Amino acid sequence: MGRVLVTHELPDGGTQPLADAGHEVVHLERGEGDPACSPSELAEIASDFDGIVCLLTDTIDEKVLAAGASGRLKVIGNVAVGYNNIDVTAASRLGVAVCNTPGVLDETTADLAFLLLLSASRLASEAERDLRSGLWHGWGIKQYLGQDVHGAVLGLVGYGRIGQAVARRAAGFGMQVLHHTRRQTGSAGYVASLDELMEESRLVSLHVPLTEETHHMIGAHQLELLGVEGVVVNTSRGPVVDEQALARALESGTILAAGLDVYEHEPDVHPALLSAPRTVLLPHIGSASRRTRTRMARLACEGVCAVLAGRRPENLVVLAPQTA
Ligand code: GLV
Repeated sequence: MGRVLVTHELPDGGTQPLADAGHEVVHLERGEGDPACSPSELAEIASDFDGIVCLLTDTIDEKVLAAGASGRLKVIGNVAVGYNNIDVTAASRLGVAVCNTPGVLDETTADLAFLLLLSASRLASEAERDLRSGLWHGWGIKQYLGQDVHGAVLGLVGYGRIGQAVARRAAGFGMQVLHHTRRQTGSAGYVASLDELMEESRLVSLHVPLTEETHHMIGAHQLELLGVEGVVVNTSRGPVVDEQALARALESGTILAAGLDVYEHEPDVHPALLSAPRTVLLPHIGSASRRTRTRMARLACEGVCAVLAGRRPENLVVLAPQTA
């Protein structure tokens, strides 16, 4: 059986599939909230393991993969659906398989996107902050006038599993749902041009992976098109939004509000966003329910087990020779 490195403590039962398959599980001595492992730290030890189970905060770059592949490393299991923390091109070239966690976090992440749509649109953070700091002096007819979510036009940028889960929730709120993706989806509400989607929507929620193409996909121009009543929500990856442009749009009233769960340079949050008005900021908790995080951990471990057993798991992102 193999040796599998698990870079962080996972939710209870998360590594059970590895133990069930008889693999030796080696933990790095790190607790929740400890800094991510540096690539050089991982590169030093990667060759001693058949598999690595890592988090989205661990950078698995070419150096780590090359060091691993020079030894026994065959597979990386990323406990996240997004895998922009892994150099998948290098993994593929070096013959290291990569698995992620699609499917199990869709509903939980869509719940959080909806929470942000609601709380940003209704200025909930600002109102609560005022109340807690003693700045609320009684009901006022012109206080905290936000935007209705029910009946609004919702634009989804990206229409994968999570985007579609948000669309299902939107139906219950009587919203008109549009979506934009690179390729025509053939589904009702498809809009080929991002600019047109921004112009037509009042609320916009982002559900694309981070790639070269999606980097800063939402900038000053798109926010301008969204307009003064517009609300933007991001639960995908921070760099999809130009944070400086977003902070400016909030300050100047170019758009109404924003709800963010992800940031360009996590855990740092752009200071201009921290002080921007009408902004809800959460610390990357899209998939953070106990059940979902456990399912994610198990799925990543199951993928590792499958590859090590010579099987091709469904959650395979990068094919390696042994899984072809
Ligand atoms: C969370 O951000 C994930 O990609 O799973």
